[in-house]
Amino acid sequence: MSTIVLKRTGQKMPLVGFGLWKVTKSSCADTVYEAIKAGYRLFDGAGDYGNEKEAGEGVRRAIQKGLVKREDLFITSKLWNTFHARDHVKSITKKQLELWGIDYFDLFLVHFPIALQYVDPAHRYPPEWFDDDGKVRLQNTPMQETWGAMEELVDEGHAKNIGLSNCSGALILDVLRYARIEPQVLQVELHPYLNQNALVNLAKTLGVAITAYSSFGPQGYVELSMDKGAPSLMNVNAVIKISQKHEKTPAQVLLRWATQRGIAVVPKSNDVKRLQENLQCDSFDLDQDEIESISALNIDLRLNNPAEIDPRLAIFA
Ligand SMILES: NC(=O)c1ccc[n+]([C@@H]2O[C@H](COP(=O)([O-])OP(=O)(O)OC[C@H]3O[C@@H](n4cnc5c(N)ncnc54)[C@H](OP(=O)(O)O)[C@@H]3O)[C@@H](O)[C@H]2O)c1
Repeated sequence: MSTIVLKRTGQKMPLVGFGLWKVTKSSCADTVYEAIKAGYRLFDGAGDYGNEKEAGEGVRRAIQKGLVKREDLFITSKLWNTFHARDHVKSITKKQLELWGIDYFDLFLVHFPIALQYVDPAHRYPPEWFDDDGKVRLQNTPMQETWGAMEELVDEGHAKNIGLSNCSGALILDVLRYARIEPQVLQVELHPYLNQNALVNLAKTLGVAITAYSSFGPQGYVELSMDKGAPSLMNVNAVIKISQKHEKTPAQVLLRWATQRGIAVVPKSNDVKRLQENLQCDSFDLDQDEIESISALNIDLRLNNPAEIDPRLAIFA
């Protein structure tokens, strides 16, 4: 399995992992178990996905049946916006570890550089974006405080690696000014409609590994009616032509476009056949002109933008 070596710890992060957002809660344990059986070793979860307990059940079953050991897996989770205050970072991470039934995360990411007012998990979990009255309530916790608490997670063994998600260049550079433990991974929306070339170049220069999310672009947003009417990347001529030439599926071509450049991917599928197909995206190479023709599809189409929830959340402005 191809991996990326993380700079600080030397830990190997699989280049292809499994994304847990929108994985149906009732079938999540089975899906995770099947994914491990198919060969997945990285799982990309988050408190916000509401299926950490079920994902953990799938992991436990695979370990009990002898398919893998805990140390063979790379489990990622994320800190939700309502837990950015120093004390809340530690308490929620412990709760998330309990839900998963594990005692450390391989990678823990700040999900968004957005601090929202604390919500007691006993009251509502996951807390999501809106308060009980439907309002978005900001909280004045600076990233420096949150990052300091993330570093303590590493000190105390709750996370082996820490990183950022949904951050742009200026914020990454700022975190590096005060970080005692540098972010190891940056996870961002990245697909041919949003190729993020400048951010990829910056991360590579800094030695921060990149994970692309929503590799299939609009596909992952159709079920949420958030695809903005963009044509499916799987039906675009350039992608179809390349997939026919290599006798691969359009999904495999879209994933290879990222992994061949050292960008990790975490495709999600509720379907066992498709999740196997996605994992097998590494067995061929695209020509340079094929990579470029896919990159040329860029239209800076961002599908996951909190500014559409509330204009005060315009983190990509
Ligand atoms: N950090 C963040 O803020 C953030 C935000 C978004 C996502 N993520 C992470 O990235 C992961 C992936 O992103 P995503 O969930 O937006 O979507 P995605 O993986 O780009 O696309 C998923 C969609 O593609 C379909 N699909 C999967 N494999 C396919 C194949 N081989 N052929 C045809 N269709 C296929 C799935 O349908 P079926 O399920 O029916 O197969 C689903 O509709 C998430 O699960 C999450 O872990 C992180």
